[in-house]
Amino acid sequence: MTDAKIHRIGLLLGAEEDWPTAFESLLALVGPITDEDGVTHELTSERLTIEPFNLRQPVRAGLVIDRLAYWYYHPREWLKKAALVNDTYLINSPFTFQSMEKHSAYCALMRLGLKVPETILVPYKNPVDNVRWAYTASKYNRSFDLKRIANDLGYPLYMKPFDGGGWRGVSRINDEADLLKAYDQSGEMLMHLQSTIEYEHFARALTVGAETMVMDFRPDQPMHNRYAVSYDFLTPRAGMQTAAISRIVNAMFGWEFNSCEMLVKGDEVYPIDYANACPDVAVTSLHYYFPWAIKALVRWSAFCLVTGRKGRIDLETRRYFDIADRTDLTDDEKLDAYLAIADEYLQADAYRAWCAKHLGHLDEAVLTWVQSDDFDRLLRSTVDATYPAHERDHFMGHFGGLVSLWVKDETARLAAR
Ligand SMILES: Nc1ncnc2c1ncn2[C@@H]1O[C@H](COP(=O)(O)OP(=O)(O)O)[C@@H](O)[C@H]1O
Ligand SMILES: [Mg+2]
Repeated sequence: MTDAKIHRIGLLLGAEEDWPTAFESLLALVGPITDEDGVTHELTSERLTIEPFNLRQPVRAGLVIDRLAYWYYHPREWLKKAALVNDTYLINSPFTFQSMEKHSAYCALMRLGLKVPETILVPYKNPVDNVRWAYTASKYNRSFDLKRIANDLGYPLYMKPFDGGGWRGVSRINDEADLLKAYDQSGEMLMHLQSTIEYEHFARALTVGAETMVMDFRPDQPMHNRYAVSYDFLTPRAGMQTAAISRIVNAMFGWEFNSCEMLVKGDEVYPIDYANACPDVAVTSLHYYFPWAIKALVRWSAFCLVTGRKGRIDLETRRYFDIADRTDLTDDEKLDAYLAIADEYLQADAYRAWCAKHLGHLDEAVLTWVQSDDFDRLLRSTVDATYPAHERDHFMGHFGGLVSLWVKDETARLAAR
């Protein structure tokens, strides 16, 4: 069709090959979409390159899925320009991910009345080198008793960087000796001390736009075994809360591709890590959940572009805090009220209806694709790139088995519709 509206999805990528290849394959399965006004839309994607840019130069991509800008200035500034000058939709936006790190998420969650473990921010062990710092430190730095802070929190406790990031600098502190050693080693990292939660389940919720999958995560296992395929591993109440809290925080901060970590004991949910700008979506860790995750990325991108959803630079935290401050509501009523605002932001109902109307064919198409040679090649090349030669057959069997389980469950799910 010649007069179709073409929407380009830019992929700003690091070292990953698996999910981008899957994303490109699944996007090709979407096909043209004709909206209510009879306009036909087509979606394509391109891998973005890093090069000089004029701040006025238009950006081709209507939406960018970013895996790079959290760490690198050049792509980050390009993204900000794209959002401010060209209205490019960003998943995720540096405006909210850079300024609101793990520490801010803790603060916001506390304000909403959620059970973040007791957390203390301590000053740098070695402040960043700067000639002016010596004067400031000698004049204004109050000495503090690290041991007393730790004693008040109680051992064991966790020491970890305020902004998180893939277990970098995280240590479990069992006693005073551990405490002093870890603080000495923290160097120029800014650290939280946090009470330990002795948990029964580690729930990791991956959110893509209005979709959230709460998974049974086992952090002590090797990477390929961290996500257990388990259904109903939480009590109904904890299951509801884990999904609700993730949606609420993501909507509140405008984080639309994020994984949130919660420690769960019975019905109690303790959020511990809510800001992962670049959530792990490797086929070799998500396996069973991989087709869902990539499909959700395709669906959410298509929805945003075709319906013309606008990205936001400003946030509406005040709406959430107004609910948090109310004294006439119970905790459950507050959660429901937050969720209502979150779902409004995420256009949850409109999204579901739009997917049912325009992407009804995608489930079957993805099911077929996951059983194709294409998918097999993708899995094989990822396994080859990830594991040494003598382990590859074993891991092909491992991931192949888990993906076959998804195929079986998905076939049953589609048949039951
Ligand atoms: N308060 C806590 N109680 C129990 N375990 C914790 C706590 N904080 C962190 N952990 C453990 O340490 C791991 C890393 O901490 P996390 O806050 O997720 O840091 P990162 O941002 O590096 O992922 C968690 O996945 C969990 O296993
Ligand atoms: Mg974490």
